[in-house]
Amino acid sequence: METVHVGLEGREYDIHIGPGLLAQAGALIGPLLARPRVAVVTDETVAALHLDALRDGLAASGIEMVALALPPGEGTKSWPHFTRTVEWLLEQKVERRDMVMAFGGGVIGDLVGFAAAVLRRGVRFVQIPTTLLAQVDSSVGGKTGINAPQGKNLIGAFHQPSLVLADTQVLGSLTERDYLAGYGEVVKYGLLGDSEFFQWLEGNGSRAASGDMAARIAAVRRSVEMKARIVERDETEQGDRALLNLGHTFCHALEAATGYSDRLLHGEGVAIGCALAFGLSARLGLCSQEDPSRVRAHLRDMKMKVDLSDIPGDLPDADGLITLMAQDKKVVAGKLNFILARGIGDAFVTSDVPPDAVRAVLQDALAQRG
Ligand SMILES: NC(=O)c1ccc[n+]([C@@H]2O[C@H](COP(=O)([O-])OP(=O)(O)OC[C@H]3O[C@@H](n4cnc5c(N)ncnc54)[C@H](O)[C@@H]3O)[C@@H](O)[C@H]2O)c1
Ligand SMILES: [Zn+2]
Repeated sequence: METVHVGLEGREYDIHIGPGLLAQAGALIGPLLARPRVAVVTDETVAALHLDALRDGLAASGIEMVALALPPGEGTKSWPHFTRTVEWLLEQKVERRDMVMAFGGGVIGDLVGFAAAVLRRGVRFVQIPTTLLAQVDSSVGGKTGINAPQGKNLIGAFHQPSLVLADTQVLGSLTERDYLAGYGEVVKYGLLGDSEFFQWLEGNGSRAASGDMAARIAAVRRSVEMKARIVERDETEQGDRALLNLGHTFCHALEAATGYSDRLLHGEGVAIGCALAFGLSARLGLCSQEDPSRVRAHLRDMKMKVDLSDIPGDLPDADGLITLMAQDKKVVAGKLNFILARGIGDAFVTSDVPPDAVRAVLQDALAQRG
């Protein structure tokens, strides 16, 4: 088991990473509990595959568990399921000192974290992320929330978990597509701040994808470590935390254009968005022309979506996509915030991007669709 510590004063916590952590859940969580009882919220898919293992792991330390399984999918991150979750937790008589557990992917983590943030003005919660995306990204850093009809993640709170258990064995039941979508965020970490890690991924990413446990643990550990260090510097995204949005301005426009449907998963949009961000950086003369080619070559090696032509169905034209970008909640005073790069592993935040360059990059990318 590997451990990454998040050193936020007064809200510090550990992230444990390794295979078989569900079996050890009771031993790991027990010391944090005021009484031997926890309320677990999960989704139906995860419940069918892994809830028994979690129940057994808790029971081994004499901890009793009650569980609520919500429908899987992004639609669950909404007011109706939020209301249902909060009311269920109250029915289960979850008290101020109790522990709530989010057991699932990013949808469950975001929803349950937000429920914990507001229940009785805040109860503690444990993240047990079960997708690669949730293990390397959404379970760490304390951003919680739900979607509004007006847009994604518009309602929420910062609420740090008390513990994160990333059981890398649980990833074995993911579909290849969900695994690779999560890998989009893994690549992002290398691209934004660690060229050695990106190089390591070029050599070992496929091994990790095909199930090599040591490679998976290493990929999750380095990703989590990078996120933890950035969150420690800038918990509420006044500055550096925005680096984590590399590829995301493009991604959000593509997600909106595809209606947040399964035409494009979030992590797939991140991968395409990173390729576009490097394309834009090269066009602006910030990085070499080889860098975007290298990014794209790795994504291709991994059999991931790389180009706009990999997205099924129609897309808006370049101006349509730029309009969608401008609706992003990270727009400050009407200026598009971009994460650009001086090279692989060297990203920076800027609001100073000529719209013509963005338009040109998108036009080129759309033209390749033929
Ligand atoms: N809070 C943050 O900082 C943050 C960061 C990134 C993304 N997010 C959010 O995360 C969400 C996406 O998360 P996600 O990609 O994990 O999606 P998800 O939670 O919908 O999970 C994807 C699918 O995998 C299934 N699944 C989960 N674990 C499984 C397992 N072990 N085996 C088999 N199937 C499994 C789920 O049932 C679901 O169908 C988005 O809502 C996004 O906004 C939040
Ligand atoms: Zn993301």
